[in-house]
Amino acid sequence: MSPRIIVTRRWPGAVEKVLSEQFGAVLNSSDRPMTQTEILAAFEDYDIVLPTVSDQLPAAIFPERPRARMIGNFGVGFSHIDVEAAGRHGIVVTNTPGVLTDCTADLAMALMLMIARRTGEGERQVRAGQWAGWCPTHMIGSRVSGKTLGIVGMGRIGRATARRARYGFGMNIVFHNRSRLDDEELHALEARQLDTVDDVLANADFVSLHCPGGADNRHLIDAGRIATMRPESFLINTARGDVVDEEALIDALECGRIAGAGLDVFANEPVVSERLKMRENVVLLPHLGSATEETRRAMGMKVVENLAAFLDGRQPPDRVA
Ligand code: DGY
Repeated sequence: MSPRIIVTRRWPGAVEKVLSEQFGAVLNSSDRPMTQTEILAAFEDYDIVLPTVSDQLPAAIFPERPRARMIGNFGVGFSHIDVEAAGRHGIVVTNTPGVLTDCTADLAMALMLMIARRTGEGERQVRAGQWAGWCPTHMIGSRVSGKTLGIVGMGRIGRATARRARYGFGMNIVFHNRSRLDDEELHALEARQLDTVDDVLANADFVSLHCPGGADNRHLIDAGRIATMRPESFLINTARGDVVDEEALIDALECGRIAGAGLDVFANEPVVSERLKMRENVVLLPHLGSATEETRRAMGMKVVENLAAFLDGRQPPDRVA
């Protein structure tokens, strides 16, 4: 009997075609997010569940005796999945690393430029018909070139952001990473590894977060740490909303403790705090890091590779649990 496979959301058309024609997967053509009850039922009724990063899969989502044997996550981050609970139920979990590195790093740079050069504010002003013409003191921002970028989490995306910042904008790179890193690329980038996150925050004009979300990094950037940032600095988050204590960040933005923030991810997505929306010194994007035609297709095809390996009895290349 062929395995029963379910996809929780709409995926790129080319990927859905493969999933449905070659694997007989059940697609979600309405793209309505599945409820927790529906997802739990999917674990009872299907052999393979293909969720996305917006589906919450806590321990309670797994029934006592799930039929499901694999979760093929569409996304590199998997902090929305209780992987230990999945493991206890004998469910293999895979993700999609590598293919979204460049696009996410591009977006981190875009946020840096947008917030420092006030492009969101500028665009709003033009559209509102409130631009009164060029003058030497109009909407003055901060220079990006030559400044210091502090990276928290020097994995694939952290490094790709560092390359863009160093080679494209002549920025100085400092970073924190849990393990010690020492290799040719970092030497070429003249990137300095600092001992603590606090050291990075105190030394950077821009802080860009590239560490995973989840319990280990929850509120890594809290009120105490934000207080160590320079008043003229900016915080960029393309990682996960829970890495930052959002209320503490908003307090800091409101009282001018830091200059601004560029955020692609939020604590309670898709709900964005009204206090954030009211501020001019923030750029707010709807979790667009990997949102390009090429990358989203590649992410889907990675899931297909993992699925094919699993069904063939091989080790899926991107197994995380
Ligand atoms: C991921 O893959 O984890 C991103 O947040 C969405 O592309």
